[in-house]
Order: sequence, then structure tokens, then C-alpha cells
Amino acid sequence: MATFIVLLGPPGVGKGTQAEILADTTKLAHVSSGDLFRENLKNQTDLGKLAKSFMDKGELVPDDVTISMIRERLSRPDCEAGAILDGFPRTPAQADALEKMLAEFQGRVDYVPFINAAEAILVERASGRWTCRAQGHIYHQKFGPPKRTNICDVDGSELYQRDDDKVETVSKRIKVYLEQTMPLVEYYRQKGVLVGIDGSQTVEQVTEKLLSALKK
Ligand code: AP5
Ligand code: MG
Repeated sequence: MATFIVLLGPPGVGKGTQAEILADTTKLAHVSSGDLFRENLKNQTDLGKLAKSFMDKGELVPDDVTISMIRERLSRPDCEAGAILDGFPRTPAQADALEKMLAEFQGRVDYVPFINAAEAILVERASGRWTCRAQGHIYHQKFGPPKRTNICDVDGSELYQRDDDKVETVSKRIKVYLEQTMPLVEYYRQKGVLVGIDGSQTVEQVTEKLLSALKK
């Protein structure tokens, strides 16, 4: 049975940061719906242009296109053993679709860390974030700066600030998260796979909590 880990949590809490580390430790693929949309946008695909019109407003991209993009991604060979899902599912319809897909791919959601922190922390993290143009590696001007200004430590590409990290858009994303994604906390709690993780601590402390819960 393939293992899928769903990282739940508000915008800016550190899902992408922790997903990179967990993928490294578990050797599972890191699948981020936001990164896939941004990659499509960089390549100027129709999907990328459509996604941008929602992302810039801080709204969710419609379920049907999001689900078919993830389905295609999970059917690739690097997901055979499973994946760390970062930013998907984000609505009850996406969670139901994931369940159906995994039945087909012979996988299951084993572990759902729900990483949370206060809104002021989320805004501070998102507004200081710098993202790598080539592969989406994540930095923070105060909490995790790159060794050289504006250059990714891993692949040397340029760092940029996401258009949706403006304070107004972050607040809108948090609102959308509370309305549309929060119901998934209860959904996964009822399945007995939810683990609450305090996301307000340092990156290393959060990783330690995630890994120790994963071992159990
Ligand atoms: P997406 O890219 O998924 O954004 P998000 O969920 O809003 O989350 P973020 O990526 O902003 O934050 P994160 O939790 O990954 O934090 P990070 O690790 O970067 O989605 C963007 C948009 O795409 C959505 O608004 C929507 O339009 C669309 N979309 C995506 N998925 C979709 C779906 N399933 N359905 C429909 N639409 C979808 O960390 C943030 C910063 O904090 C970084 O600078 C980092 O260095 C720093 N940091 C991390 N951890 C710590 C720590 N412990 N202490 C201090 N600093 C930290
Ligand atoms: Mg992210």
C-alpha cells in the first residue's frame, strides 16, 4: 500500500518548508498544488493562465481543473510509493476525489499533520518569503535567508516574491482557507489520521514534532 501524507494548514504556516524536509527524509515525492500551478504559469500553459486569475485574487482554483492536475501528477512513477501532499486537498470535494484516486492507485492517507499558527505569524512569514524561480525552494528574509542575496542555495536560480504574498491577498487567502479548507480538519479527524502540530515554533522544532508523530 502506498503511503500518502496530507499537510493541512493555513497559508504561510510552513507546509512547503516542512514538505521539502519530509520528502527528503521519507524519500516520498513532494506534490504541491501551488507549485504545479506556478510551474504552469511559468510555462504559459492555459492551465497556468486560468490558475493565475484565481491565485492573484487569493481565491481557490476550481476543483475540476485542480483535481485533474493532481491525478495526472500522482500517476507518475515517482509517486508509486506515495507522496507528501502540500496544499491538496483543500475542499471537501477534493478530499473525496483524492479518496477515489487512491483506491485506484492502491494507496491511502496514513497521516494528516494539521500545522497551525496565529494569523500575525502567517502574515509575517508570507510577506518575508522569497521563492526560487527554478524549483520553488523556500527562503525567508528573517527566518531562513539564502547564503547569497536573491540567489537560491540549492540551484543558483533567482529568488522572487510571490504576487499573492501582498498583505491584502494573504488576508484574503486566510479567509478562504477558514471557509473552504477548515472542514477538512474534522473530515480527517473522524478518519483517525489527524495530528495537531504547533506551527509557531522554529522550522527545526516543527520538523521534530512532525517526525516523532510520523514514527508513531
Ligand atoms: P499555495 O502555494 O499552496 O499557498 P498556500 O497554501 O497559501 O501556502 P503557502 O505556500 O503560502 O504557505 P506554506 O504553508 O507552504 O508556507 P512556506 O513553507 O512557504 O497556493 C497558492 C494558491 O494556489 C492558492 O491561493 C490557490 O489560488 C491555488 N491553489 C493551490 N492549491 C490549490 C487547491 N488544492 N485547490 C484550489 N486552489 C489551489 O513558509 C512561508 C514562509 O515562512 C517562508 O518564507 C518560510 O521560509 C517561512 N517559514 C516556514 N516555517 C517557518 C518557521 N517554523 N519559523 C519561521 N519561518 C518559517
Ligand atoms: Mg506552500
